[in-house]
Amino acid sequence: MIQMPVKTEISEEILRVKQRLSIIGDSPALIEAIKRAVTVAPIDLSVLVTGPSGSGKEFFPKIIHQFGARKHKKYIAVNCGAIPEGTIDSELFGHEKGSFTGAVSSRKGYFEEADGGTIFLDEVAELPLTTQARLLRVLETGEFLKVGSSVVQTTDIRVVAATNVDLLKAVAEGRFREDLYYRLSTVVINVPPLNERGEDIVLLARKFAADFAEKYMTKPISFSDEAKRALMLYNWPGNVRQLKNVIDQLALFEAGEEISRRQLLESLPINRDSMSTPMIAPSDDSSELERKMIFQMLFSMRDEIENLKKVINDKSGEVSSSSYTDVRALMAPEHVSDQFANNPLDLSEKKVIEDTLARHNGNKKQAAEELQISLRTLYRKMQDLGIS
Ligand SMILES: Nc1ncnc2c1ncn2[C@@H]1O[C@H](COP(=O)(O)OP(=O)(O)OP(=O)(O)O)[C@@H](O)[C@H]1O
Ligand SMILES: [Mg+2]
Repeated sequence: MIQMPVKTEISEEILRVKQRLSIIGDSPALIEAIKRAVTVAPIDLSVLVTGPSGSGKEFFPKIIHQFGARKHKKYIAVNCGAIPEGTIDSELFGHEKGSFTGAVSSRKGYFEEADGGTIFLDEVAELPLTTQARLLRVLETGEFLKVGSSVVQTTDIRVVAATNVDLLKAVAEGRFREDLYYRLSTVVINVPPLNERGEDIVLLARKFAADFAEKYMTKPISFSDEAKRALMLYNWPGNVRQLKNVIDQLALFEAGEEISRRQLLESLPINRDSMSTPMIAPSDDSSELERKMIFQMLFSMRDEIENLKKVINDKSGEVSSSSYTDVRALMAPEHVSDQFANNPLDLSEKKVIEDTLARHNGNKKQAAEELQISLRTLYRKMQDLGIS
């Protein structure tokens, strides 16, 4: 049985928020998170947004800003993980002319720039400890110093922070200040992982498919019932970001089609944790059907793997039967980790593909046919293996 979250009443206000920010989904955990954001918006407390990567954390600081008293003031989003350690203090708090090599003029930092408004500190766990100390001070007293200055300045900022890491663990490991953790997490909003959102997954898939078709003026894709069920059973380790990526690929290469379960599975990275086993309740009457469906999925994946193995072995005597090259064929490029790079098996695979392409004078469709893989898989492999 697929355990559906029970539907909750959604107030007019929540609907308005969802509409304004184009947030899709009615699952109780998502609605609860939105509700918390709306409730805390008018009250000037620090908020910590937690949730796995790609789950949609970035909507929440926007809700808090737009539905609070600071809405007419500035909103600045800072990705703490993307700013080099050497410049982050200057970015956040500004610097005086000559305070370091290259500081040719003085500069305002975000905390001065956004005075009266909201700063969203994304990936807050990445802040260096020295910056954490400065941040704690500005949160507690509203005071800060520009880099290279001894003049205390004041600012009035609301901070919303987000992280996909376990901050308490970071505290235990000495990477994050405990006092800052408590200061930031006055109110915590948990954004649920996608695989806990039931039918939201299908709503999101439809929305992304429609958005793609509209944006690129292609024929929209739709989904078979089986594909919809598979969408809900898959684990979505990359959450909404991954779903969008998968739907975009399908919308591009299968424009106008009704996507079957098989087509969907072909575009998913498959590993042994891919299926959402907690969604299967063994004692339930309908569980047999679900089990069958999962076995079917696994069998079709196994067939795919066997096919690929065969193709690769046929084409290259030296390829061993090690399984991960095969599994990799089912993975989308962004999920192929560096551990696979420069593997000797890749080189053989690369040669097979290059030779086949050369035989067909670069005609990818014909090469894909000979390799017995879809054109999409061929493109993906070419991209992974660096074949131009
Ligand atoms: N409920 C939703 N409705 C519509 N789009 C969504 C929803 N949730 C997430 N998205 C989209 O998914 C993508 C990823 O979301 P977002 O960038 O907010 O993730 P995140 O939680 O900040 O991830 P990370 O921790 O990796 O930064 C964005 O394009 C966002 O617009
Ligand atoms: Mg983010």
